[in-house]
Amino acid sequence: MIAAVLGLQFGDEGKGKITDFLSDRFEVAVRFNGGGNAGHTVVTDGRTFKFHLVPSGSLRCETVVLGNGMVIDPFALKDEIQKLRESGGNAEIKISKMAHVVTPMHKELDKKEEEIRSKLSIGTTAQGIGPTYEDKYARTGIRMVDLLSKTILDEKVETIYRMKESLLKDTKFSQQTERQALSSALLEVGKYVKQFLDYTENIIYEKYSNGKNILFEGAQGTMLDIDFGMYPFVTSSNALSGALSTGAGFSFRKVDFVLGVVKAYTSKVGAGPFPSEIEGKEADRLRDLGHEYGTTTGRPRRVGWLDLPLLKYATRMNDVDALAITKIDTLGKMDKIKVCTGYRKNGKSIDYIPRNLEEVDGIDLELREFEPWGEPDYDKVVKNGFNGLPEKMKEYIEFIVDYLKIPVDIVSLGETRNMTIVRESSELKSNGK
Ligand code: IMP
Repeated sequence: MIAAVLGLQFGDEGKGKITDFLSDRFEVAVRFNGGGNAGHTVVTDGRTFKFHLVPSGSLRCETVVLGNGMVIDPFALKDEIQKLRESGGNAEIKISKMAHVVTPMHKELDKKEEEIRSKLSIGTTAQGIGPTYEDKYARTGIRMVDLLSKTILDEKVETIYRMKESLLKDTKFSQQTERQALSSALLEVGKYVKQFLDYTENIIYEKYSNGKNILFEGAQGTMLDIDFGMYPFVTSSNALSGALSTGAGFSFRKVDFVLGVVKAYTSKVGAGPFPSEIEGKEADRLRDLGHEYGTTTGRPRRVGWLDLPLLKYATRMNDVDALAITKIDTLGKMDKIKVCTGYRKNGKSIDYIPRNLEEVDGIDLELREFEPWGEPDYDKVVKNGFNGLPEKMKEYIEFIVDYLKIPVDIVSLGETRNMTIVRESSELKSNGK
């Protein structure tokens, strides 16, 4: 099976957990977008792993690929690979020679750009993501393969500096010695990274031709997509299923199954429109129940109800076959549970997703209320799967299925692998190998 796992909200849907759960069905896991802005948490055997760059399938797949669409901090990557190896993760790692390199200079630029944006600041993860993609599209970017050549590194570090001098002139990179030191450090880390570099689109195609099962792991979520998200409060890459074609060099026409991951409520880090956001005590409670603090930044996340019109759009844009719902146990502990079923403006229903601040202003939500389901009987769930879920939780799930006309194949009730329930008739039930 060739499958893709995507986030359908604002990121942080629990993709890491779902991907890890599914990874024993796949020999290969591939990342195709973003970089260290992603924080994918996997809990297994009482241990917690936080992946930022290597795919979440790294603990169980044979081969993992960091595709050309990614932007990679090679220093952070080295640390992450070493930690993975120390904890017994021995997947073969392949990194695209064409992926772009995030340097400390890009992280500095990320901060400077945020200062200049002032009121329009995005609340980025400060991981240098935007500036690295800017360089990619300006055709001045440093690619992974460039880490092997001092001449190219010297030239590119200088070019980037000159292009962005107005932003960098009061940083340490204004000194040529610092730029040279950066170039040397990149060359040094390149000696480590070299062993993993390859033309990964060819490796993926070869695996596909040999009948291997491949899982594409999206980072971020639909509403953070550079084109279709809440621009400008988005990340700098495409986060939709279609992006795997350009971000990994593999045709979307060969993908058999697209799994959309949805948190049972909504959360968002950073600024920008969030139509179903809640505030005050109710929000504090949901945030605390769900431990909604950023994996990468530690920032408290904004929280809100599940937004079904937004999800309807996201399922269409990603061509989703089935959903995985996460943190439904968390939501069940709230005193009141609401779901957004539509938007109104000036008393009239609107049939588009309010995408910018002006559109969101004055929006009224059509809300449907559900009764809480409390703590599930976990033994019953483990024994009976979907049938063992609390009745009121099932009503909530059925409402979502009916609204979106998409099946819910996976329900996640906790951090660990055994708290993940797969619908009996799902294609994901059997090990696809
Ligand atoms: P950047 O990707 O660091 O430039 O951040 C742009 C926006 O996307 C900010 O609002 C971030 O909080 C958000 N963002 C980026 N990556 C993630 C993620 O993996 N989860 C949640 N939010 C993210």
